[in-house]
Amino acid sequence: MPMPPWSWAVGHIGLLYAYTRSLPAFANVNLVFPEIAASFADTEMFLIDLWPVAETMLIVFNPEAAMQVAQKMNLPKATFNHVITAPITGGPSMLSMNGSQWKTWRSLFNPGFSSAMMVEQTPQIVDSVSVFCKKLVKMTEKGVFSLDNLTTRLTFDIIMKVTLNADADHQSADHPLPYALDMITKWHSVWDVRLILNPLRPLIHAYYGNVIKTYIRKQIQDRFQEVKKEYSNPASLAISRAKSVMTLAIEGYLASQTKPTAQTLDEDFAKMASHQIRLFLFAGNDTTSSTIYIEIPEFGRSRKPFCQNAGLWVQNMRFTRLRGHIAPSNWGLGTALVKV
Ligand code: HEM
Repeated sequence: MPMPPWSWAVGHIGLLYAYTRSLPAFANVNLVFPEIAASFADTEMFLIDLWPVAETMLIVFNPEAAMQVAQKMNLPKATFNHVITAPITGGPSMLSMNGSQWKTWRSLFNPGFSSAMMVEQTPQIVDSVSVFCKKLVKMTEKGVFSLDNLTTRLTFDIIMKVTLNADADHQSADHPLPYALDMITKWHSVWDVRLILNPLRPLIHAYYGNVIKTYIRKQIQDRFQEVKKEYSNPASLAISRAKSVMTLAIEGYLASQTKPTAQTLDEDFAKMASHQIRLFLFAGNDTTSSTIYIEIPEFGRSRKPFCQNAGLWVQNMRFTRLRGHIAPSNWGLGTALVKV
């Protein structure tokens, strides 16, 4: 099987470490794989030996082989998926589950992400985007600022609203959840021995994990109480409001039970559901916020208005891409926007 240069002592760990060092400080470790893949264009797959950190991985980038692995054969995920996500999600989530367990949870949450539900959610998404546009206009008056910070806050507000119907308003004031998530990820590593052996690490994970758990479990209980109220008073169903992803999952879960009128929410369901919500916050946040800030310059290039109602045209701005090491440390890797 093809693979990059390998060492008897540390397999491919040293190679991965060397590649990650060539990337900016805040870059996602997965960016390493396309770099390595460039040398395997003919085989379209290669082995990576992560002993003693994780199982050996077969990286597949041939579309047909990838389809076989992920869909036709639905092969089990590496247990490494659980190791890297558990401190963030609090336990098993869709990203680490396999087979029928994955299918059950995926089916419960699918309705909340249907295109019909997304259309229903649009007014509240627009509300959050309006706040974003106002903040953006205000910041451009001040000079250089981190666009990443604004898009991350916007994304967090939208995910909280759509998945939990929670008004986080992180765009206006700091919310404790992103800080807690940030602390957990900062103190999480699969190969940095300084972090792995640090006795404070489990304490920090436990403390901030509990902050997140308490907040999300309360939201889940509140959504359950609303569903119960609607069941006992079907007239209230007529009140038109978009149902959150969590509300629909609770309804789906209750419908699958022999006693759908349960007075209390099953503990196992609430626990697993909270892992999935934590996954949404984690999986949806950086991906979406960076997609937004990478796309904003495109509005300028294609001469389309951006935040037109707020009087902002991208043509009036200059974008600067910041590398992690020269940006102020709290900015991360992002795009700065300067009004010129
Ligand atoms: C531009 C934005 C996004 C990109 C590029 C993106 C990318 C991806 C990719 C590549 C995967 C597959 C990961 C794997 O199986 O190893 C994935 C899975 C997933 N994403 Fe996203 N994502 C985005 C936005 C979101 C958002 C907004 C949410 C939730 C609110 C989300 C939730 C999830 C979940 C739950 C999974 C696991 C699904 C499963 O295994 O059944 N993602 N995403």
